[in-house]
Amino acid sequence: MCGIIGGVTNQNITPLLLSGLKNLEYRGYDSSGIVVISDKRLLERQRSVGRIANLEKKLIIKNLHGEIGIAHTRWATHGKPSDENAHPHISNSISIVHNGIIENYVNLKNQLITKGYEFTSDTDSEIIAHSIDFAMKTCKSLTSAVQKVVKTLEGSYGLGVISSNFPNKIIAARKGSPLIIGVGKKGNYISSDQMALLSETNKFIFLEDHDIAEIKIDQIKIFDMNSNQVERPIVISNIKAGEVDKGKYSHFMQKEIFEQPQAIRDTLESRITNDKVNCSAFGHNAEKIFKSIKHIQIVACGTSFNAGLVAKYWFEDISKIPCNVEVASEYRYRRPILLDKTLFITLSQSGETADTIEALKSAKKLNRSINSLCICNAAESSLSRISDLVFLTHAGPEIGVASTKSFTTQLVAMALLVCSIGKLKNTIDVDSENLIVQGLKKLPGLVNDALLSDSAIKSLAKSFKDKTSSLFLGRGTMYAIALEGALKLKEISYIHAEAYPAGELKHGPIALIDEDMPVVAVAPNDELLVKLKSNLNEVKSRGSQMIVFEDEKSNIKSLDSMKVFQVTSNLGRITAPIIFTIPLQLLSYHVALVKGTDVDKPRNLAKSVTVE
Ligand code: G6P
Repeated sequence: MCGIIGGVTNQNITPLLLSGLKNLEYRGYDSSGIVVISDKRLLERQRSVGRIANLEKKLIIKNLHGEIGIAHTRWATHGKPSDENAHPHISNSISIVHNGIIENYVNLKNQLITKGYEFTSDTDSEIIAHSIDFAMKTCKSLTSAVQKVVKTLEGSYGLGVISSNFPNKIIAARKGSPLIIGVGKKGNYISSDQMALLSETNKFIFLEDHDIAEIKIDQIKIFDMNSNQVERPIVISNIKAGEVDKGKYSHFMQKEIFEQPQAIRDTLESRITNDKVNCSAFGHNAEKIFKSIKHIQIVACGTSFNAGLVAKYWFEDISKIPCNVEVASEYRYRRPILLDKTLFITLSQSGETADTIEALKSAKKLNRSINSLCICNAAESSLSRISDLVFLTHAGPEIGVASTKSFTTQLVAMALLVCSIGKLKNTIDVDSENLIVQGLKKLPGLVNDALLSDSAIKSLAKSFKDKTSSLFLGRGTMYAIALEGALKLKEISYIHAEAYPAGELKHGPIALIDEDMPVVAVAPNDELLVKLKSNLNEVKSRGSQMIVFEDEKSNIKSLDSMKVFQVTSNLGRITAPIIFTIPLQLLSYHVALVKGTDVDKPRNLAKSVTVE
């Protein structure tokens, strides 16, 4: 999704803007641009469609020099990817970069046209530049012009504004789109995420919705929605610049797959004491809240939704509490029934997914009595700041667009939650808790073992070279794992992949099966294995090439048409879905390599979807 970086320093800002844009690449984008205020007090801009490397080439021909500037990676929403639609946009002395969507832009555009403004792009964002320019005719300062304009904007914005008439300050504003201020030694900066600024500082101010900041080299002033000056805390980030390197790996996704044993260890750390799950790991008030709840509603998007689906099975099966799970973009626009004593859980790697944030906000309006818990990988995210309870997964920065370690650590978080709630509601006894805890403690080692199948899966991936469609099957929690496996494959290899609960095969997807459509099945030895085996026979007899991942007790015979991979020893209900995720991640990674796609930055996708 779009990314912003900007800064005011005492040296040429262009190299920093360029390296910041590169650090924002992982969010997903299709064009980029930079504007600086030159020594002659002029706005100087370069924009380019495609990769940052294209922008870099243009900068070799016409370099930009200035001590203040803003830059942007654009993920097209209004208007196709093109140089004209790329940010920064300019209106006379004003230049802006914008993340988010301005919903009333058509009205505002028409008003600006009648005032004589000419539009050079198809974007919703350009109206902001012209509106600020127009407001400058009556406002005394750039800050007050921005304050005036944002009041007219409907929708969401993370905004960086400069003016060649005020060459010493950047104005930043946010509503619904993340924006942070980096407090540095050589200057002050803005960005849509910390990754872009780690080389300059580890001190950040997280702006709140409706905040407007005036940022100079030696001074930062923040105003709230009523234009009152406010203090926002400076947070020291513990993410190290080195953590966002690929290290010895070819891709971030590969690195992140192999980091899972450590990410799980870090997520478990201090969450289990003396073989007991610490309920307080979910927040001071967690015990009281968990004792009182009667229902669980999980809301999430993408991979995080799949983690929620696994957890639904666990909550109802293990801690005996009714649980619904729904994608956030549906939930937020329905009129769902949200019962009293519901724990409303949002799952999100980034904590910035617009639909998930809005779903939580709408839930709070629907029923003020509910309690909310956010399970998230980013401290200080928008979602964590509006939730009653927060549990941070400690997966570390995830750069690959396709989530891997976030998913498995979310499942670890959910397992701890299932156990905490079960204990407090007396649905889980000491022995069951002990079984879960022992399983969780073994997880890093088991994930390590599962990663050893890497080279076998690499050979297997070759069989997908000419495939265009595939089917993933599982039952129970393995259905959710099949969904996640299919999502990974389609995200990064662009092969159509659909997941079905294996029992549903006969109600439609079986019609698709022929020798050109590989079927991947997840088959641990659990209470549904016998049923799954019959489903696999139905597939086999229709000539499909099958790939089955089993454990040592599943006992499925390898045939010419059916390749069986033993992933692991027999596992429990909690550990199995986590372990069976690993071969599916490796499969999609290696298939993407065979297909030659851009593994870490798949086309059209964004890491964190901060617009609707
Ligand atoms: C995007 C990403 C997915 C991610 C989803 C939800 O679509 O490409 O990998 O699962 O957003 O993101 P979240 O940060 O809320 O988990």
